[in-house]
Amino acid sequence: MQLLDGTACSQEIRQEIAKEVESLKASGKRVPHLAAVLVGDDGASQNYVAMKIRDCEEIGFNSTTIRMEADISEDALLNKVDELNRNPDIDGFIVQLPLPAHIDENKVTLAIDPAKDVDGFSPVNVGNMCLGLPTFISATPNGIMELFRRYRIDTTGKHCVVLGRSNIVGTPMSILMSRNTNPGNATVTIAHSRTQNLKELCASADILIVAIGKTEFVTADMVKEGAIVIDVGQTRVPDSSRKSGFRNVGDVDFENVKDKCSYITFVTGGVGPMTRASLLQNTLKAYQRR
Ligand code: GUN
Repeated sequence: MQLLDGTACSQEIRQEIAKEVESLKASGKRVPHLAAVLVGDDGASQNYVAMKIRDCEEIGFNSTTIRMEADISEDALLNKVDELNRNPDIDGFIVQLPLPAHIDENKVTLAIDPAKDVDGFSPVNVGNMCLGLPTFISATPNGIMELFRRYRIDTTGKHCVVLGRSNIVGTPMSILMSRNTNPGNATVTIAHSRTQNLKELCASADILIVAIGKTEFVTADMVKEGAIVIDVGQTRVPDSSRKSGFRNVGDVDFENVKDKCSYITFVTGGVGPMTRASLLQNTLKAYQRR
């Protein structure tokens, strides 16, 4: 079993981007600028945004966090999005999800200028991804593809089961893995809560990508000997032994699954850091396109 080390890979990517930023600075150019909009006070979202901003600082990007109260109106948020779309100092921005229930996430996503949509959530960017055109690929699927790339894992002809069909992870992941690209060229099955014979299906996967948000859902009997297992899950569970009072648990029962795998990711040093690195790559791309 080999661990797919997202922490090390993401460090490599950050160093590559930091070098680019250094050369921009050396030639007197401005540096990329990412803005993050955080609505409300959800602990996990606050944490994610803080980490994204810290990454920016580490590699020399400019960054701005825009905090808005949980009871802000949809219109006020849409006005903020419009302001960011028009702000020439901002190369790209994200609106951290989930949003409070009274705000229509789709409306907000649709309002973001696709040229600044470094999350890759807008229909224009999703459509471009489907067609294999230049785009911003959403951060988690892009980070997973980058792991395959950097570990030189051949996914061609493999049976890839994607567990979960979210707009952010499962759906784009299934498209990327099925495209005529390397990595890609896999035969993909997308599975979800209504899938029948889920255990058997998962156990037939050469590559199992799990993004369903149910802690330790994938057990050893659901994994084929020699499979590649990618765990996207990251659920906070209370843990009084930790200073933070919680720990993050994945969707895969890592301890019992790991020895069956050829490669596996670990929560939180696998997909999470790669997601954050992808956001930096997309922000650099948004800057370069301008
Ligand atoms: N919530 C969970 N993952 C993400 C992400 O990648 N981007 C945004 N904007 N919100 C998220």
